[in-house]
Amino acid sequence: MNHPCYICGLGAFVPSRVVSNADMEKLVETSDEWITTRTGIKERHFLDDDANASDAGASAAKAALAEAGIAAEDVTHLLVATCTPDHLSPSTACVIAGKLGLSASSGRMGSVMCMDFNAACTGFVYGLDLARSLLQIHPDAVILLVAAEALSRRTNFTDRSTCVLFGDAAGAVVISSSAEKALWEVKDVKCSSDGSLRDLIHIGGGTAEHIKVGDAIGPEWFVSMQGMAVFKQAVRHMSEESQQVLDRNGLSFDDIDLFIPHQANLRIIKAVGERLGLGEDKVFANVQHYGNTSAATLPVAMFDARRTGRLAPGMKLLLTSFGGGMTWGSALLV
Ligand code: UT7
Repeated sequence: MNHPCYICGLGAFVPSRVVSNADMEKLVETSDEWITTRTGIKERHFLDDDANASDAGASAAKAALAEAGIAAEDVTHLLVATCTPDHLSPSTACVIAGKLGLSASSGRMGSVMCMDFNAACTGFVYGLDLARSLLQIHPDAVILLVAAEALSRRTNFTDRSTCVLFGDAAGAVVISSSAEKALWEVKDVKCSSDGSLRDLIHIGGGTAEHIKVGDAIGPEWFVSMQGMAVFKQAVRHMSEESQQVLDRNGLSFDDIDLFIPHQANLRIIKAVGERLGLGEDKVFANVQHYGNTSAATLPVAMFDARRTGRLAPGMKLLLTSFGGGMTWGSALLV
């Protein structure tokens, strides 16, 4: 039996603190002109000092649950895609569960399975595949999939080649096999990776960076990236993966209402759209306002696309992403 997988609530959270390109000009040798021409980014949002990825994630989760009409106590699985977790342990999922008021005795359907996973910028697409797999063995599951990032905490503000690119945000969806409040059905997901390219994007702070109490931390704890190599891989894999998902579902891009690629760079978004022969009306971009928020870009973009009338429930939607690992994937929502 193949149990269907429906998204029945969508939420997003973007911090109110706006950091413009003019603000970046005060930090590093850069210009609004360079950032706009090379990336399309005009501004990004940073979390306040007293907020973490879990706070952004909990806010997005509450919005998604409210739309689904589901109480937090009814969630059975809480999956968090993040490459900027609050801690190495406990998981950001457990932190968010705590912030949603969930404990061992609070769940109406029993205790919640909580876990983080790291597929970097591809986390949301990977999470959709995890959710639909979980539904096959737990058809009554109510899955909260959260993508939450605090990239500003791992941005090297002395490195102009990366610090202008990133922002903080979170998005969340509620997923179940009940069609009752369905916004979209997750029809197909394809996820891929190439670990031989793992060094193209790196964020340290794990146990491979040996450190003792009192040691100073170095730049290896922060984002580093070989930009142009990543650019080429991103264009190639997002295009090919998307085409493969359409092919195996007997669809063409004419059948798709909206294509939402990972929001890292407007030039990448345009290059993928051109490679796939898509007009600008079919390709969604909001990287101008948020920068690259890693796993959060896709649910935030879905939220924005719906808010601005570009996307409505039941429209055929193709998502694709690419990120550190390297990882990439595409998802077909109908
Ligand atoms: O989310 C995961 C996936 N990530 C991505 O997809 C990101 C992929 N990569 C990119 O988006 C682009 O490669 C970047 C935006 C990171 C860089 O754009 P680029 O066109 O590849 O520029 P570049 O790194 O080749 O640098 C061009 C020049 C260099 O100067 P020279 O060597 O030509 O004199 C850089 O030093 O631009 C210089 N530069 C800057 N200048 C002003 C680099 N960063 C800056 C800056 N402001 N912020």
